[in-house]
Amino acid sequence: MRVTLAKNAGFCFGVRRAVEMAEQMANDGGGHSLGPVIHNRPVVEALAARGVKEAVGLDEIESGAVLLPSHGVSPGLAEEVRRKGLVVCDATCPLVKRAQEAAARLSEEGYTVVIVGDPKHTEVQSVVGWTGGKAVVVDGPEDIRKMPPMDRVGVLSQTTQPAAKLEAVVEALREKAREVRVEPTICRVTLDRQAEARELAGGADVVLVVGGRHSANTRQLAEISRAAGARTYHLESAAEVEPGWFSGAETVAILAGASTPDWITEEVVAMMKELDEGKEPEAEREEARTAEPSEPAKEEEKVAAPEVESMTEGQAEMEKALRDLKNGELVRGKVVSVGDEGVMVDVGYKSEGIIPVGELGLKDNQTPADMVKVGDEINVVIKNVEGQDGNVILSKRRADDEDAWKHLQAVHESGEPIEVPVTAEVKGGLIVDAGVRGFIPASHVSRGFVKDLKPFVGQEIKVRVIELDRPRNQVILSRKLILEEEQRRLREETWRNINEGEVRTGVVKRLTDFGAFVDLGGVDGLLHVSELSWGRVKHPSEVVHEGQEIKVKVLKVDRENERISLGYKQILPDPWTSIQERYVEGSVVAGKVVRLAPFGAFVELQPGIDGLVHISQLADRRVAKPEEVVSVGQEVKVKVLGVNPQAHRISLSLREAEEDRDRAEYEQKAKPEAEGGGLATIGDVFSDLLTGQKGQDKDKS
Ligand code: F3S
Repeated sequence: MRVTLAKNAGFCFGVRRAVEMAEQMANDGGGHSLGPVIHNRPVVEALAARGVKEAVGLDEIESGAVLLPSHGVSPGLAEEVRRKGLVVCDATCPLVKRAQEAAARLSEEGYTVVIVGDPKHTEVQSVVGWTGGKAVVVDGPEDIRKMPPMDRVGVLSQTTQPAAKLEAVVEALREKAREVRVEPTICRVTLDRQAEARELAGGADVVLVVGGRHSANTRQLAEISRAAGARTYHLESAAEVEPGWFSGAETVAILAGASTPDWITEEVVAMMKELDEGKEPEAEREEARTAEPSEPAKEEEKVAAPEVESMTEGQAEMEKALRDLKNGELVRGKVVSVGDEGVMVDVGYKSEGIIPVGELGLKDNQTPADMVKVGDEINVVIKNVEGQDGNVILSKRRADDEDAWKHLQAVHESGEPIEVPVTAEVKGGLIVDAGVRGFIPASHVSRGFVKDLKPFVGQEIKVRVIELDRPRNQVILSRKLILEEEQRRLREETWRNINEGEVRTGVVKRLTDFGAFVDLGGVDGLLHVSELSWGRVKHPSEVVHEGQEIKVKVLKVDRENERISLGYKQILPDPWTSIQERYVEGSVVAGKVVRLAPFGAFVELQPGIDGLVHISQLADRRVAKPEEVVSVGQEVKVKVLGVNPQAHRISLSLREAEEDRDRAEYEQKAKPEAEGGGLATIGDVFSDLLTGQKGQDKDKS
């Protein structure tokens, strides 16, 4: 038969503390305990034999010292003890005390207090007493479902209840109440024991649960074991063991409650060993009680001892963990309540810790409820273990600072960029919130000089840590490095992918007399003034402006010299398309003289379409220079002589247009005469000219 003793067995620190206080009382001359010191009859009897007697009520005690038991008493009863002039020795377990205080606080704050547990258990009765008797005790979620709707409910648990039951009750309460606040009061010692019980019972044929029948935590262990399917026996002493329990069993697990002294568990272990070896247990036990152990017997005890030892070490660890919080230590805790004055956090100490509002690190207009909610797990720094009202004073602000410095250290080493909000503009740069206060010198805000830093305030920007000095509380960051890097990456990508003939979107960065520079993504291309429009453009500003996003055609890519030529007009409709339909040979059209050359005058017919009036076509006489006939800017009517769309050429004639006009005028004037039957004379037709000539002759004379 394989026998396994649970590692988490024997006195928990709360029980041991109470027993030690009772022993001290016995040493000091004895006294009374109000009810059993712990729920273990042999221990209570042993203490009574040493002078610490159990009193059922206060009436039984007239004088001397009074021990308040590990399960606590109501504040009213404690007060009565004091009023009677008796010496109070409070052995209430610190975790029970925490539950009492939580219940009192909830009740004071106007919550309906719900306690999950056994209403007959002394611990539960003591906690109810701390709410002035107003708390409601429930056994499970079914009890909640029978209750009417509620407003604000504060729920806590008997220290030894299973966590699953508390969760089920909370869930049921959430459907009943507007607000549910949970106070975590389940003892971790209990949770550890229950978890181990579940594990051991799952692999054992028989489970022995050693402990007092009134001990709630021992009863819970037995219930867990039964639920796991193991044959379970709850016994108070080794004398109750019956050999028949183990028929056919190969594995036996021994569990012990938190109020079971080691010596009882050791007796059960020894008994199992004897049974396994086929000895007569009674005789052996009798022998053991009456005589000093022989050497071999001592050896046997040593076999069982290590497991018992490991159990007590486990408890010592727990006790130590609860005691050893140090000022300045960074710990993790669970938010148990959030109020306007601060946040209560369970950090596994005998009482909850409080983060005063000033230690939360709230930002402008932020409230505690904006920052955390009940159930959140957060890091806090212990500011003062012995704070006001016994609460540990905690600081989230300092813990956040710690986290922020660690994070900054890590990103400083890795070079990873971080996003930070800009909180202010100061002389010489920007202030940002990098978890702690950070500074960006003005020279590191952008790639170029930034005259006005104000627009950055309120923005979230990407930066890199360039300097960290924790002792001087200095964090220097750069945005410029990130921008330069992005620029480099973009540039490489653009050069890798750009091809002649493709159309790209770019931003006009700069205008010059000869064209516009367009940013194509880290690389600037030149859009020459001649490529801006099909028409005549004197300055690029006539077509584009800085900051404008435009589509451009890539005309030429010179990777060697890192030059890119762009065209804008190429993506606009070509005016030479269907030009012959618009300018029919022989037709007379209007235009404007835009340029003179020795061989003629250029006339713009529409933007982008210029035609040439050859010098021979300017007048019906010999012309030495075009300026003799026309001037730049002059509006003229010209006759289309020929159109060559491929060569983008149109030949025009001013002379022929005028001849046509004169002919038309002549014909117009000759027409009425012809219709009247008479013939027009040369004088009629050229009277104007002749009149003008006469005037000129007159001027000359
Ligand atoms: Fe206290 Fe937990 Fe023991 S509540 S009495 S330490 S089981």
